[in-house]
Amino acid sequence: MFNPDRYATMQYRRCGRSGLRLPAISLGLWHNFGTRADHENCRTMLRTAFDLGICHFDLANNYGPEPGSAEERFGRILKEDFSAHRDELIISSKAGYYMWPGPYGEWGSKKYLVASLDQSLRRMGVEYVDIFYSHRPDPDTPLEETLSALDLIVRQGKALYAGVSSYRGPLFVRASELVRRRGWAPLTIHQPRYNMLDRWIETDLLEHTAAYGTGVIVFSPLEQGLLSEKYLDPANPMPRDSRAADPDGFLKPEQITASKLDQVRRLHELALKRGQGLAQMALAWTLRDPRVTSALIGARTPQQIQECVAALENMDFTLEELQAIDAIASCSAAH
Ligand SMILES: NC(=O)c1ccc[n+]([C@@H]2O[C@H](COP(=O)([O-])OP(=O)(O)OC[C@H]3O[C@@H](n4cnc5c(N)ncnc54)[C@H](OP(=O)(O)O)[C@@H]3O)[C@@H](O)[C@H]2O)c1
Repeated sequence: MFNPDRYATMQYRRCGRSGLRLPAISLGLWHNFGTRADHENCRTMLRTAFDLGICHFDLANNYGPEPGSAEERFGRILKEDFSAHRDELIISSKAGYYMWPGPYGEWGSKKYLVASLDQSLRRMGVEYVDIFYSHRPDPDTPLEETLSALDLIVRQGKALYAGVSSYRGPLFVRASELVRRRGWAPLTIHQPRYNMLDRWIETDLLEHTAAYGTGVIVFSPLEQGLLSEKYLDPANPMPRDSRAADPDGFLKPEQITASKLDQVRRLHELALKRGQGLAQMALAWTLRDPRVTSALIGARTPQQIQECVAALENMDFTLEELQAIDAIASCSAAH
């Protein structure tokens, strides 16, 4: 039984000029849902998220570890807890990174994308995904082929919407022009990386997604957890329960440099003055631009999800706060 008021407090934002609305905060299963994860914790995280109005769960073929295991676990939980709620969920998957040996196991060929989505559907036990992404640009496959594969998948009903991830602005423009000219499935959504310390989309992408009516869901809005209080305690700079301490984690200890920590500390002070935690300010900040549809978080615990959703209680920034964030963030460029 889920919270009957789950849609009352979450904000739902229109994804570009499409009919799709997404929760302002969505949950990704990149880390913490793989083979080694605690199943009951995973279940509770998904149930907690849904109770708070997070109805979009983001996956990819390779999420784990082992690759594929996050989709398998998600499929199991879907069956256990969400079978009556499939029509309330936006489930996404992607293909682009290495999945199986040989020439058809990664990148952007039609062969790979179609085969990979079929595998993802089987692992999750669903008939279709709501969004299917080209996970990364393929420098060697013609863009036409990748986009025609997305179109085929949408026409077959295996995905409702098509998206691209990590395509730079000029490539996104070429792709959008192509699908428009050919009458192919539009690029409803773009999934780039964006946070206070990584701002490439501000100058390279957002004007283009806005022009083509494409929504934007930003990944790693917390810089994989660095934009939180987690790494600020000098007595315990690398907590055991952190992504940086996990040998399978994509946040490596060497990425947590003294200059980064100095920025994080100053951002934390700013957040406290706003009456928020740093993770909350980081999320509210990514959502300050209406061209950003959703902030796509990862989580290790249900409590983290609750804290993240509470960011929505304070979404307004003064000009002074924004300028202070810009000043702290731009120090990184100098280091
Ligand atoms: N398209 C792509 O190429 C791509 C790439 C990366 C990610 N993604 C998607 O984006 C999703 C999110 O990426 P991400 O996991 O890097 O996002 P993130 O939200 O920047 O980082 C998640 C980590 O932040 C920490 N955290 C979360 N809530 C917190 C809170 N309230 N307080 C303190 N720390 C908190 C946790 O770290 P600890 O584990 O240390 O506690 C958590 O594992 C992925 O799951 C995936 O769906 C897509």
